[in-house]
Amino acid sequence: MTSTRATGETEVLETHTAELFQEAVRRAARLLCQNEVVALPTETVYGLAGNAWSRDAVSQIYQIKGRSPENPLIVHVASFEMARACVAVWPESAAALARAFWPGALTLVLPKSASIPDEVTAGGNTVAIRWPSHPFTQAVISACGFPLAAPSANLSSELSPTTARHVQKSLGSLIPLIVDGGQCQIGIESTVVDLCSEPPRILRPGLITASAIRAVAGDTGSGMEAAGSALLRSPGMLAKHYAPKARMVIAKWDHSRDLQQRIAVEYPWAGAVCVISHQLIPSAEHFARVSVIPHDPEAYARALYAELHECDEIGADLIVVEAPPDTEAWSGVKDRLGRASGGACAPLWAENP
Ligand code: TXA
Ligand code: MG
Repeated sequence: MTSTRATGETEVLETHTAELFQEAVRRAARLLCQNEVVALPTETVYGLAGNAWSRDAVSQIYQIKGRSPENPLIVHVASFEMARACVAVWPESAAALARAFWPGALTLVLPKSASIPDEVTAGGNTVAIRWPSHPFTQAVISACGFPLAAPSANLSSELSPTTARHVQKSLGSLIPLIVDGGQCQIGIESTVVDLCSEPPRILRPGLITASAIRAVAGDTGSGMEAAGSALLRSPGMLAKHYAPKARMVIAKWDHSRDLQQRIAVEYPWAGAVCVISHQLIPSAEHFARVSVIPHDPEAYARALYAELHECDEIGADLIVVEAPPDTEAWSGVKDRLGRASGGACAPLWAENP
């Protein structure tokens, strides 16, 4: 028995019982084997998946998302063997990191194997690979027997989806199938590590931190730095990315009144102001919405995109996010807040242009 909800031409399949799960695996795998593109849950964000060996499927991913052809895709695997089929070399640093963090929210950039089409890597000679931990995506990859190229399942430059409903909002009717695997457990995209540079570098911070990677990669990771000059090597990391529709600023405040006054002076045009706080909670009466998300980086990451989606849905003109602490554990969250606000995540009062 299947449970489906029709949304235009896009079908949404639920997975919350063993039967629904198996049926959704079959349906998704069948479409993927026909080189169709489908939205699948992963533990980080939902992905828009297609057969990584198929130029046709990969081209559709770019087309549906409106993604720049210069921005390469992550290839998702479900075994070490499949990972090794995607790469030309498998250095000890990759083996150690994969043993420590896979399946999980770590993406490794390595020299690509000849079997990966150029479309996946935007013409480059490296490929990004990840073994996701979400049981549904693992089951689909195993059923297909081929790896899945999958960017986040949103239109290019929009916020990533952390629920099936977010995918529906962005891509509904553009794809044949969305699989609903529940809310993403991690909630922000994977950490991307470039193992082709010496020393390895973090191209995109995430919840797996530089220290954790250094601890495993040992000396090879000793010079690891986050982003900076490495940004150019990850062409998808444009400044304005992962952005809500509303203008967004990151701020610190002492009192509600201080916050209100600054908003009134600096953003007089902003009718509906939403505040996302985690420590100093302003009084709700002067804002369209005040939400409080937990003050630890993992729970915060899990909640962040859903909050931003919600602010957009209620028609926010301005989203004010309380600045997160300046420690390494928050580097992934800070990176996404910086990108969502169109620039570096400033500790005080930063805005997107
Ligand atoms: O958690 C995630 O990584 C999610 C889920 C779906 O797995 N995927 C995701 O994909 O965030 P996407 O396409 O939204 O972001 C992939 C990032 C981009 O910044 C892209 O430029 C970078 O990975 N990337 C992909 N291939 C690369 C390569 N060969 N070299 C450097 N950067 C690469
Ligand atoms: Mg993305």
